[in-house]
Amino acid sequence: MSTPHNSAVKGEIAETVLMPGDPLRAKFIAENYLDSPVCYNELRGMLGYTGTYKGVRVSVQGSGMGIPSIGVYSWELFNHYDVKNIIRTGTAGAIADNVNLRDIVIAMSASTNSAYAAQYELPGTYAPTASWELLSAAVEASKAHGDAYHVGNVFSSDMFYDDADSLAKWQKMNVLAIEMEAASLYMNAARAGKNALAILTVSDCPLRNEYTTAEERQNTFCSMMEIALETAVKIS
Ligand code: HPA
Repeated sequence: MSTPHNSAVKGEIAETVLMPGDPLRAKFIAENYLDSPVCYNELRGMLGYTGTYKGVRVSVQGSGMGIPSIGVYSWELFNHYDVKNIIRTGTAGAIADNVNLRDIVIAMSASTNSAYAAQYELPGTYAPTASWELLSAAVEASKAHGDAYHVGNVFSSDMFYDDADSLAKWQKMNVLAIEMEAASLYMNAARAGKNALAILTVSDCPLRNEYTTAEERQNTFCSMMEIALETAVKIS
């Protein structure tokens, strides 16, 4: 059986799924890194593929942009397709002074301005947190890869264009970078008893008006994907 947003039938999606925001990046990964990739979803253009990497069965699925979009796709992967591990691979804007263009940020936790946690009716503030198993494997993979990387708190924002200009305040709290998806992914994983991690490359520094070129984004995207794929192998 499929879901309203994913035409895969159970069994077609691997235990570990890499999730770029852009579905065309999912296609790129499938075509350039996976052996024998098979496309299992084209609904809404949110492409998903399953293949193998170094003999390990891996899927790659676009998530779309924002907390609600990754919230839908990751909920269905965890709760309907029996997926155990989701590794988001996306871009982020630097917030901390020592985080530079093209660096990798591994999101240990995800602060947010989203109301996603309200559904759990918790008597306090929930702290969306990555899975230690994935986090430690990704740190090992990053060390081996040799790129500059940081591990810490990110800010998952509902706004790309933010009238309130709040980044300086998050900077004071030692938040490394801004992105728009990790928080709901981490909450869905926690609620389902599964594992999640976001590995991000810094595409821009909004506080310093610095931006990568399309070519740089492609190259740093490949480093991040290689780290995510090696993480998948380590936990297999
Ligand atoms: N803001 C939000 N999300 C992002 C950014 C940003 O500056 N850069 C990459 N993803």
